[in-house]
Amino acid sequence: MDIKKISKSGKKLSMVTCYDYSFARILNESDVDIILVGDSLANVLLGLSDIKQVSMDEMINHTASVRKGATDKIIIADLPYLACQKKNSRPITACRQFIKAGADAIKIEWFPGCEKTIGRLIKGGIPVMGHIGLTPQTADLLGGYRVQGKNKESKDNLKKQAKKLEELGVFSLVLECVKKEAAKEITKSLSIPTIGIGSGKHCSGQVLVLYDLLGLYPGKMKFVRVFSDLSGPVKKAVNSFHRQVREGSFPSDEESY
Ligand code: KIV
Repeated sequence: MDIKKISKSGKKLSMVTCYDYSFARILNESDVDIILVGDSLANVLLGLSDIKQVSMDEMINHTASVRKGATDKIIIADLPYLACQKKNSRPITACRQFIKAGADAIKIEWFPGCEKTIGRLIKGGIPVMGHIGLTPQTADLLGGYRVQGKNKESKDNLKKQAKKLEELGVFSLVLECVKKEAAKEITKSLSIPTIGIGSGKHCSGQVLVLYDLLGLYPGKMKFVRVFSDLSGPVKKAVNSFHRQVREGSFPSDEESY
């Protein structure tokens, strides 16, 4: 599947996160265009409070398990903070490990000086998706988790970053929590597709965290739509199991060897 081609045909792109084999199998049979093994793995799956804590080994293991389940989908892996911005990190080695684990491309969040890393990766033949706006790995530099592109200075800055990343050769760009008018302008100014999260409808596509859209992660953000709230059915099923174990009706003879 060619992401640019789909986008050029005028169709909106869809991307969801995934972190494990079982969900990957379901997504492989879905219509979604792209799977992202996001570093939101830190919060959503590992319960870490800081996204910067997720390790390269954890990201690699989960990428490999998603590839096992989703053999037919484009899989993009998020380069974690520890592998690209920490002193002595080796982003090129890390990206090669991701590709070996089954990723088709790598997503890198914008950070001061990221151009050098991104340029090197692309020259080395690694397809890169950029990520600007609210960049959780460097949210401290943005004054916290705040909507970006609210004033002219911020919008112009985002436009500059987007243009620079396009020039470097990223094949697509995530816009996170960017004011919808700014996201529209940025999208119009680029020839690569933008994928929005909390950035309005004018992006070339949309991404959501799978556990958010399924109602499985607490603390719904304004931009999340819960397409199916599975937390209720999961609780109900586990309670049925518990009740039937207590009353002795599970397992039946048919469920026993
Ligand atoms: O890790 C993540 O979940 C992301 C978002 C853009 C979906 O990077």
